[in-house]
Amino acid sequence: MHIAVDFHTHVLPGIDDGSQSVAESLQMLRKEAEQGVHTVVATPHFYAHRTAPRQFLQERQEAEVRLRAALAGDPGLPAVVMGAEVHFYEGISDSECLRDLSIAGTEYILIEMPDPPWPERRLRELADIRQKQDLTPIVAHLDRYVRFPFYSRLFEALAPLPVLIQTNAGFFTGWKTRQAALRLLRRGQIHLIGSDCHNLTSRPPDMGLAARVIENGAGMAAIEKINARSLDILKKIG
Ligand SMILES: [Fe+2]
Repeated sequence: MHIAVDFHTHVLPGIDDGSQSVAESLQMLRKEAEQGVHTVVATPHFYAHRTAPRQFLQERQEAEVRLRAALAGDPGLPAVVMGAEVHFYEGISDSECLRDLSIAGTEYILIEMPDPPWPERRLRELADIRQKQDLTPIVAHLDRYVRFPFYSRLFEALAPLPVLIQTNAGFFTGWKTRQAALRLLRRGQIHLIGSDCHNLTSRPPDMGLAARVIENGAGMAAIEKINARSLDILKKIG
């Protein structure tokens, strides 16, 4: 069984530290297709202190146009929808640009948190994105923080908040983290999965292997649940 949607990727060409060319993007998307992924969310990095939102959106659109022109000649590749990996900053919940950075115009937005610890006010601001902007934060790659002590407390701290949690496929494929990943998934503390792919070598698309680990360790129903949630989030896209 396949994971249908890759929720976190850097497949857009030439916009961040991900794909550096249209050709590389197409190869990455081919890998995604081979692994059964039918929709890929492009989530280039957005840092508010480096780039104005308007400039970012302009650059993203230019990269999208270049990629779509190439995709048109290759109907077997996954659909690509636009999003952003928005690095958290103080005052984010009051920002006027957030809706423009949401995933394909839905009420979901991928947020990259700074390194822990996360003081109470930071967690409150994360929840405020939902309260003030009607956008549900998807907290990116929570497994990134496994190198910090007591990382499982981060899952606990986020559990009561109006957010979803995304982890990377590598959390499931890594032999050191696999059991913890499966345990958190079974407990319902992981909602979405992304490859966070950047290239074909050091950080390639790896959703297929993660799907196999999940199917073996948590059963097909766990993948069905992830797929249903993913499709529900994207259902408004016309
Ligand atoms: Fe990323």
